Amino acid sequence: MSAQIVPRILLNSGQRMPVLGLGTYQSKSDNVKEAVSYALDVGYRHIDTAYSYGNEQDIGEVVQEKIQKGLVKREDLFIVTKLWSTFHKPEHVIPSLKKSLANLQVDYVDLYLVHNPCGFKYTDESNLFPTDADNNVWYDQTDHMDTWKELEKAVDQGLAKSIGLSNFNKRQIERIVQSARIKPANLQVECHAYFMQKPLFDFCKQHGITLTAYGPLGAPTRLFSVNPNDPVLLEDPVVVEIAKLCGKTPAQVLLRYLIQMGRIVIPKSKTTNRIKANFEIFDFEISPENVAKLGGLDRHLRYYPFDWCKDSVEFPFRDSY
Ligand SMILES: NC(=O)c1ccc[n+]([C@@H]2O[C@H](COP(=O)([O-])OP(=O)(O)OC[C@H]3O[C@@H](n4cnc5c(N)ncnc54)[C@H](OP(=O)(O)O)[C@@H]3O)[C@@H](O)[C@H]2O)c1
Repeated sequence: MSAQIVPRILLNSGQRMPVLGLGTYQSKSDNVKEAVSYALDVGYRHIDTAYSYGNEQDIGEVVQEKIQKGLVKREDLFIVTKLWSTFHKPEHVIPSLKKSLANLQVDYVDLYLVHNPCGFKYTDESNLFPTDADNNVWYDQTDHMDTWKELEKAVDQGLAKSIGLSNFNKRQIERIVQSARIKPANLQVECHAYFMQKPLFDFCKQHGITLTAYGPLGAPTRLFSVNPNDPVLLEDPVVVEIAKLCGKTPAQVLLRYLIQMGRIVIPKSKTTNRIKANFEIFDFEISPENVAKLGGLDRHLRYYPFDWCKDSVEFPFRDSY
């Protein structure tokens, strides 16, 4: 299957972002290389990672090998990584991005996101979850605008083609949009059939910001904040029924639905047949009637409540959106 099959969405930076990418959270060296290599062979060109996932180096090795073998071109790839919360202070932003670039063995990333509005105290570059003397999360309150100005400099210096935000709420995004010289091109938030983020999506659209849906399959194997009472999205009877009608799997229906609703999706898998199946979503269409049925599933269910940073003054999910 050709990589050209994945439509691209125009960002306000002028870049074109593939609407399907491979997520890599919880993909470690034993499986991430195989997953990324296979995904590139299948036709994925968009890879989502983050400094905090600890797998940029592995991804960089695979990307470099594929480029050197002439199997992919750097300009066809869309690589996304994220600034971790311990690097919000202006003096840490560009050095942290440069570290990510070195890990990824590239001169620029296509999209650089602020991972989380909650800043943490910088102690050293490997301590991602610093705690104070009482063992509480050690927060840092760098003004988001001061961090954002450094991301703008990263664009000026050619280190990032586009910049954006992740896990920010409307109020936090609005503040950046009002004073930014370079507007955010993309917002990455949890989004799936149980949590379509309609108000935030509409707000972003008004401001020319695209929305990437993380956890698009309902993050069935997430490590944190697992509530055993949460319904399993992939097993929802409405999703299963529509999948049967379409001759597709529940995962394919969930991804296709999000794309039809204007979201960019980054399903994660380390399993080759799933990586391939998750890519095969451009040869069918969910009917308006079934789109409406899927719309009925929306229930503001957060699989990732981020309760580990709920005491931060910038905790984003206190606001309704
Ligand atoms: N910005 C943020 O704060 C943030 C937070 C969370 C996630 N993300 C990004 O978003 C990506 C996706 O989110 P996520 O990984 O949390 O959740 P997800 O993509 O909704 O779900 C991933 C899980 O679903 C399984 N899976 C994949 N394809 C499947 C299929 N076709 N059928 C059945 N199960 C399938 C995977 O298992 P196997 O791997 O075992 O196949 C994996 O355990 C992440 O990897 C990361 O890149 C960003």
